[in-house]
Amino acid sequence: MKSLVRVAATAIVFSLCTAGAWAGDAAAGKGSYLVCSACHGQNGEGNAALNAPRLAGQEGWYIKRQLAAYNAGMRGTQPGDMYGMQMRNMANSVSGEAAIDNLIAYIGTLEPPASTPTVSGDAAVGKALYAVCVACHGAQAEGLEQMGGPRLAGQSDWYLVRQLQNYKKGLRGYHEKDSFGRQMESMVGTLVDDAAINNVVAYINSLAK
Ligand code: HEC
Ligand code: HEC
Repeated sequence: MKSLVRVAATAIVFSLCTAGAWAGDAAAGKGSYLVCSACHGQNGEGNAALNAPRLAGQEGWYIKRQLAAYNAGMRGTQPGDMYGMQMRNMANSVSGEAAIDNLIAYIGTLEPPASTPTVSGDAAVGKALYAVCVACHGAQAEGLEQMGGPRLAGQSDWYLVRQLQNYKKGLRGYHEKDSFGRQMESMVGTLVDDAAINNVVAYINSLAK
């Protein structure tokens, strides 16, 4: 009985956790974030001048999977992908599952101000384009773990544009073992040109709280 109560209490605590919360020791992860902060900002706000996206607000499972993807050579290995290569060089700066979980828990505590929109596009046109994205990224672009689709709302918009271009150019989702990246790569065909990319990102911007 006692253990049942404990299980129930744990379940409640988990369900109360916010999207950013991750099972790890945030205080212990703070030190490892120092190296990341050089490019991603002290509060995970991102830095356009350094091409490093916002990390604050992103789902822990996605951050973890991306670090693994860089380390496995599934991201940041294509010739011409300068920014992916920069990140790839940093992805192994924290090693060991516990250390990575602690780092992600620390990132989950960061709450910088909202990203400043930089992309101009027609959000109304973008809304129609976004209809196909809902299945994997959610109606509010909140991210859907069960589909492997990350949160897009609130992300640095210039970074979303660049990633969509990267999928189109074969700089992402190219590796045969990168099943999630390949899923996404197969979806970018509906975004026929740069204007379509800007429009869908303008709509995603409108979803950010
Ligand atoms: C030298 C600068 C630099 C440092 C230091 C750095 N990053 Fe990055 N990071 C980047 C750049 C640039 C990108 C974007 C790559 C691209 O455009 O494909 C990136 C991308 C990422 C992504 C992918 C985000 C997404 O939404 O797909 C994650 C996750 C990430 N970094 C985490 C980290 C963590 C954690 C650290 C510290 C261990 C770190 N980075 C250190 C430059 C850096
Ligand atoms: C079939 C599911 C699916 C659909 C539909 C889909 N995506 Fe994705 N998307 C993914 C997955 C999975 C990833 C993560 C890939 C990875 O792990 O590298 C992703 C990644 C992305 C990224 C990169 C985010 C980042 O932080 O680096 C962007 C941007 C994106 N999707 C935008 C869109 C847009 C816009 C649409 C609609 C036109 C769309 N996606 C439709 C599954 C999907």
